[in-house]
Amino acid sequence: MTPAAGVEKRAVSPEIKIRIIQNDCRLLWSPPFPVCAWQNGAPGQAATATLTAHRTVVPRNDHRLEAPDVSTEQEKQVAAEAAAELVENGMTVGLGTGSTVAYLLPALARRSLDIVCAATSPATEHAARELGLRIEDVTSIDRFDITIDGADQISPDGWLVKGGGGAHNREKIVAGAADRFVVIADSSKPVPALHAPVPLELMSFGLRATMRQVAPAALRDVPLSPDGGVIADYHGPVEDPAALAVRLSSTPGVVAHGLFPPQMVATVLVGRGKSADRIDFTPGS
Ligand code: 5RP
Repeated sequence: MTPAAGVEKRAVSPEIKIRIIQNDCRLLWSPPFPVCAWQNGAPGQAATATLTAHRTVVPRNDHRLEAPDVSTEQEKQVAAEAAAELVENGMTVGLGTGSTVAYLLPALARRSLDIVCAATSPATEHAARELGLRIEDVTSIDRFDITIDGADQISPDGWLVKGGGGAHNREKIVAGAADRFVVIADSSKPVPALHAPVPLELMSFGLRATMRQVAPAALRDVPLSPDGGVIADYHGPVEDPAALAVRLSSTPGVVAHGLFPPQMVATVLVGRGKSADRIDFTPGS
């Protein structure tokens, strides 16, 4: 029987012990598959969960969907490892969020450099600490030598859409404070032109009014951001990213949107097969 399209969840471990650190849940990424463990409870509470692999289910007669496969994971890893090589002793390093960054962390840890890192999400912070990376509170850092992060879309002229994991507000702060912002991605992320959805983080105060202003948009069924923001997605046209960025930024109640301008991006590393393509967007990078 042909399966329906969707996401299949598959248990890949017996119950494991976890500690709840954010809101009421905890998300782990574990290469080579995006692996999650969710559990409800209060921050600090110990709990158990089962690691679950998520896989896109593709009906045999539907060629529109691509299942994430080993080569995609390999491309993420190749890009992440190339980025880890750009980090030098003494640097302050901003760490992004997501399944590509999950490959960066062990690659950085393996280099045993004397570096200080700051993370853009509780998940990245936890994973980095587990690997022995030194994590400082971002509030004590006023600039980064380098920030490395993934992206959902990369346009030919260097515009990014970010925020698939809802962390784009923190990611934009840490990318914007970096001398060099390096984007790591697999080969599915470069696109001929940006398109919806564009992630949003919104104030909960006046949410209905803000949603009307940014229409067409939909709330995402995910927990609040660690900063208490509501995660939503803009679903309208994105032909002119600069104009859309101005519109979204100037809408009261919008805390952050997922459009990152080319001026912010120094280097893009895209895994293709077993090697990484490098595109430099700013001189001297
Ligand atoms: C999280 C992000 C991620 O960097 C983006 O969604 C890419 O994620 P992945 O590396 O898992 O494809 O912006 O908010």
